[in-house]
Amino acid sequence: MQSLGVWAGDGAQEPAFSHDGILAAVANPRELIHVVQDPGSAALGVARGGFPSPVAPVSSAAASNPTASSAMASSVAAYSAGRQWPLLASLPALYPEWLGDRSFCEVHGTRFPYASGAMANGIASAEMVIAMAEAGFLAFFGAAGLQPQSIEHAIEQIEARLGVPNGKQTPSWGANLIHSPNDPALEEAVAGLYLRRGVRRVSAAAYMGLTPHIVRYAYSGVRQDSAGVVQRVNHVFAKISRPEVARYFLEPAPAAMLAALVAEGKLSADEARLAARLPVAEDFTVEADSGGHTDNRPLSALLPAILALRDRVVREQGYQRPIRIGAAGGIGTPVAVAAAFALGASYVLTGSVNQACVESGLSPQAKAMLAEAGIADVVMTPAADMFELGVEVQVLSRGTMFAPRARKLRELYRGYDSLEAIPAAERSRVERDILRASFEQAWQSTREFWAGRDTAELARAERDPKHKMALLFRSYLGLASHWSIDGVDERRSDYQIWCGPAMGAFNAWAAGSFFDDPANRRVVQVARNLMEGAAVATRAQQLRCYGVAVPANAFDFRPRPLD
Ligand SMILES: Cc1cc2nc3c(=O)[nH]c(=O)nc-3n(C[C@H](O)[C@H](O)[C@H](O)COP(=O)(O)O)c2cc1C
Repeated sequence: MQSLGVWAGDGAQEPAFSHDGILAAVANPRELIHVVQDPGSAALGVARGGFPSPVAPVSSAAASNPTASSAMASSVAAYSAGRQWPLLASLPALYPEWLGDRSFCEVHGTRFPYASGAMANGIASAEMVIAMAEAGFLAFFGAAGLQPQSIEHAIEQIEARLGVPNGKQTPSWGANLIHSPNDPALEEAVAGLYLRRGVRRVSAAAYMGLTPHIVRYAYSGVRQDSAGVVQRVNHVFAKISRPEVARYFLEPAPAAMLAALVAEGKLSADEARLAARLPVAEDFTVEADSGGHTDNRPLSALLPAILALRDRVVREQGYQRPIRIGAAGGIGTPVAVAAAFALGASYVLTGSVNQACVESGLSPQAKAMLAEAGIADVVMTPAADMFELGVEVQVLSRGTMFAPRARKLRELYRGYDSLEAIPAAERSRVERDILRASFEQAWQSTREFWAGRDTAELARAERDPKHKMALLFRSYLGLASHWSIDGVDERRSDYQIWCGPAMGAFNAWAAGSFFDDPANRRVVQVARNLMEGAAVATRAQQLRCYGVAVPANAFDFRPRPLD
């Protein structure tokens, strides 16, 4: 192996060739370290501190060469005396802040290329957003499932603490805009709210294509600065798990949609003109096998496909600005974070692991259940919002009967055309074990809910008995989420808790550490530990790549309170 020079200790220092010594060198990735060789065994080791120098190590044959300079002779003497070692590489400090795409932190004003994802019904709470933003992470408020006034209330809470967004002066944060095919007015109202309140980052979820609302949000405020550079004020983070959906957001919005928005006075002609050259989104969160809505794809298969698509569209469109592809789904350990960055992710985004944290809007009872979850304690089950379409979500299976009960309801929905057509024995089992109410009583409360939300649904249910059955069954699914959020004890066996395998992975990694105490599960501590541990794992992998015999446990960063 070619040597760069020599490394000399200051007397007491020696390079580490043992497992323990290499472990200690890996543990602090912020330190400059050197890969050196044992001239006797040719084994590779790691030196910390000391004096690297570009003087080439020479053989003892050269030392006896009468033409050798006296400096070289003394270097060789030290070398032969075992106080200098051939230097093969020097590795500068490695910071968790640098693991992702540098433009992520620059554009979004964060310290770390790490985000906590939106979790519906305010589970990703204002408190969670504030804690993360103050510590230099990006965080998305979980607005899905909430009405605009509740979302606005959360925005007020966040702004009261973080300040009103004004360029780079206040910490960055964002909120979720969920595509609502059944309720386009709600999607429009929430997008309008974000524009009115100046929410600068939106995580766009559940889109199968573009809607005017997300397009309006994306391009509102786009302008050209005095140097002719196009600037955008609003940032869409497209949450995607399929290439065909990613493409909609990678390309500029269709001309017809932009023209319609101009005609309605929702975009200016200038904004639409500039939009024709800009992608809808410049940040993409690639969602692999996650909690909640997921296609269960492995990150290692999905992320490279989206990276390749991004590169193709950038070439086709001739974009000058970077488009960042982040990774989500299954990320619950430091090595998973390191692996996501090694795959080329610009940033990472976590969900499940934050749900068990102090700041999450979930009840303490449900958080305790999450803390018990193993890696296989999750299952796919019907989704309340897209029940009729057969869409599923990933939920916790341990300690709750929600999944089999929701599946039972879907089986009945698929098998019968009306509530009345369900055989009596089935019906009484469902009434007793799942609804804990007769169909009539359950329909009465379902009716009351929809009377306050959308009477068109009720009118449709009157005409279509199958739709009535869907609304009734969906009400159980919807309530099951609220029971887990509110901690309704008598409904513990019905808790619907969205959760992916990342939770079990986190629990296994964190077992025996300070995270065992629920009070220590704080989103910032989780994020710092995942990022710090990812830096350590990356360092271990770097050394391994240079041929150092890195012990397996060098990758196992143990959780600890981090400032
Ligand atoms: C309880 C829960 C609720 C979620 N709600 C939403 C949501 O409303 N909108 C959204 O875009 N993603 C939602 N997600 C997905 C997360 O934002 C994140 O992308 C995902 O959890 C990452 O995968 P992981 O669970 O494996 O960490 C939710 C996830 C969980 C666990």
